[in-house]
Amino acid sequence: MRIPVIDLSTGIAEVRAAWEGRLERILADPHLILGPEGAAFEGEFARATGAAQVVACGNGTAAIELCLRESGVTRGSDEVWTTPLTAPFTGIGIISPGASIRFADIDPVTLLLDPDDAGNRATRRIKALVAVHLYGHVCEMGRLRTLARSRGAVLIQDAAQAHGASFQARPLTAFGRFVTYSFYPTKNLGCLGDGGAIALGSGTVAARLSSLRDGGRGPRTADMISRLKGINSRLDEVQAAYLRAALPRLGEWNARRGAIAEGYDQRLAGCPGVTLLPRPPGSVNHLYVVRAKRRERLREFLAARGIGTGVHYPVPLHLHPAFRLCGLKRGDLPHAERAAREVLSLPMWPQMAPALVDEVAEAICRFYC
Ligand SMILES: Cc1ncc(COP(=O)(O)O)c(C=O)c1O
Repeated sequence: MRIPVIDLSTGIAEVRAAWEGRLERILADPHLILGPEGAAFEGEFARATGAAQVVACGNGTAAIELCLRESGVTRGSDEVWTTPLTAPFTGIGIISPGASIRFADIDPVTLLLDPDDAGNRATRRIKALVAVHLYGHVCEMGRLRTLARSRGAVLIQDAAQAHGASFQARPLTAFGRFVTYSFYPTKNLGCLGDGGAIALGSGTVAARLSSLRDGGRGPRTADMISRLKGINSRLDEVQAAYLRAALPRLGEWNARRGAIAEGYDQRLAGCPGVTLLPRPPGSVNHLYVVRAKRRERLREFLAARGIGTGVHYPVPLHLHPAFRLCGLKRGDLPHAERAAREVLSLPMWPQMAPALVDEVAEAICRFYC
């Protein structure tokens, strides 16, 4: 592809020198798991996101699982409600500890979990609500917090796509106990492999989460006794060092993403066949997604011109075999099902040149004219 949907090489080049300096120190004094780089990153990421404390772990899926384990939401009778329009890993993080996944529909305009629909559908068995800041677009956290509180449910925010996001100019941790992150390489803050974290509004559960990610061991790991039903999900030092080198760039990268998204908005505003998505204030533009008529034909047209695209996500989670116990069938969540047929992710990465945005937008308008 002449214009890929994402190009990671330029971001890595920006971070490389700072990371290699840290790597030298790790190799000289190897403490490769749960060492000083990870601990320092937890503090730095907490400061960057306005959290009271951060517990790093192996990936964003495990981060969700750890929050549910910490909350005791691990039985089949415990329902966890979420959006069907998200990465399958949101759902895997919910069912892994043993809870039952349930879905409410999305808002047809924002494509984010609809608080009214969730409130109407949720049963008395709801124990947790997982709000996903899809595409880096921030959910209506005020209403979701009210819903969770009124049902006595734990509120988890899946911010795997929303590093640096805020709601009403406040940190995400101000609206719920847990905010989970992924550092998968393509994310706004990515590492060179897998990584994840949980940001907390208060530090009270940090020690238990730290134990849960490490096989339930602790406080003395040397005695090798699992005191909690934990998992094995730790951020290694090499990734932590990379994240420490990349973190100072997050704000600038998010600003560049914002400029690219505005560039697309302006160029695609009058284009027939394309519907733009609203971006709530505080969003961080992980992906630039439009709704496109005749999407598959458009994708082929763009691919023939060397322009890559993605679909996030082609099948809503309630129609995945892995989540069939949710009990829903095709037609039950019409807004999510329609969005899954229409959403199209356009090329986007922080260092993308404005001329490439012009080229992509021009090609799309040509397709529809
Ligand atoms: C919305 C969302 N939730 C959860 C995850 C899971 O993150 P990870 O791949 O780090 O397990 C991802 C990443 O794919 C994601 O995009």
